[in-house]
Amino acid sequence: MDVTIREAVPDDWQEAGRICYEAFATLAARHGFPPDFPSVEAAAEPIKWLIEHPHIYGVVAERDGRILGSNFLDERSTISAMGPISVDPSSQDRHVGRLLTQAVLDRAAQRRAPGVRLLQIAYHNRSLSLYAKLGFDVRGSFAAMHGQPIGLAMPGYDVRAAASADEAACNALCIRVHGHDRAGELQESIAAGTAKVVERLGRITGYTAGIQYFAHSVAETNDDLEALIGAAADFGTPGFLVPLGNAELFRWCLAHGLHVFFVLNMMTIGIYQEPSGAYMPSVGY
Ligand SMILES: CC(C)(COP(=O)(O)OP(=O)(O)OC[C@H]1O[C@@H](n2cnc3c(N)ncnc32)[C@H](O)[C@@H]1OP(=O)(O)O)[C@@H](O)C(=O)NCCC(=O)NCCS
Repeated sequence: MDVTIREAVPDDWQEAGRICYEAFATLAARHGFPPDFPSVEAAAEPIKWLIEHPHIYGVVAERDGRILGSNFLDERSTISAMGPISVDPSSQDRHVGRLLTQAVLDRAAQRRAPGVRLLQIAYHNRSLSLYAKLGFDVRGSFAAMHGQPIGLAMPGYDVRAAASADEAACNALCIRVHGHDRAGELQESIAAGTAKVVERLGRITGYTAGIQYFAHSVAETNDDLEALIGAAADFGTPGFLVPLGNAELFRWCLAHGLHVFFVLNMMTIGIYQEPSGAYMPSVGY
């Protein structure tokens, strides 16, 4: 029987989560890297969250009623983000990943999304090739950084929890740096109490929305980003993402004892402009 693609439903989360764990762990072990998700639970919980989220579209691939893999499209903001995508190791390299990627690209086209982006683990030649074949362009490389919290407070740079009243200033900053806002993710992160802003002389000069690997940050300068990183309580693993093109920030992280977990490539389809300011992407973009 052929492989079919259908929208993910809540009952899929355990099997899709198990596959997500196995797919990433097998791949990481083959390349001598630690797994992205340390356990089945650590992969399955985010998959459950993704499936249940009203603004995230999920698909699963099936053959004979058996799930072979899943993929997601985060539709919370102007630009959509693809992933995580995973295919059961026993079914890889047989075009299931291609079908799952095409399914979310079709969805983005149908919704007239101006762009789709993803971050791809650089050591995986297959996903790099698959995405490039389907039209994604590589835009840059990013180091996932982890380690002990730095615990640095920079005089004149006040880091505090973000509030709803800060949304307009944060969105304006994001538009200035990237050409679009990330209002949906910011709003959600403020409501969850995970968003932070940095202020200089009472003016917002940077923000971070989300947590660790899933957070994006935008700022006027590297100093603003360093204030946000310096105040972070926990980086988790794989950690937060530093553009390797920002040599100063990358070296600052290294000088503060942080380690590189792995390197990822950002790949994009649709509108894209080179950022004009300091930023750190989430694992989505
Ligand atoms: C990435 C993943 C989803 C891809 O799914 P898959 O079903 O194995 O991949 P597919 O068979 O659909 O596609 C692979 C494509 O890359 C091509 N390819 C594979 N290795 C290649 C290489 N070294 N160089 C060039 N092309 C290559 C294949 O020929 C195929 O292209 P085609 O469809 O035009 O024939 C799957 O391998 C997986 O789950 N990996 C673990 C988790 C992961 O890495 N997720 C992505 C994180 S960025």
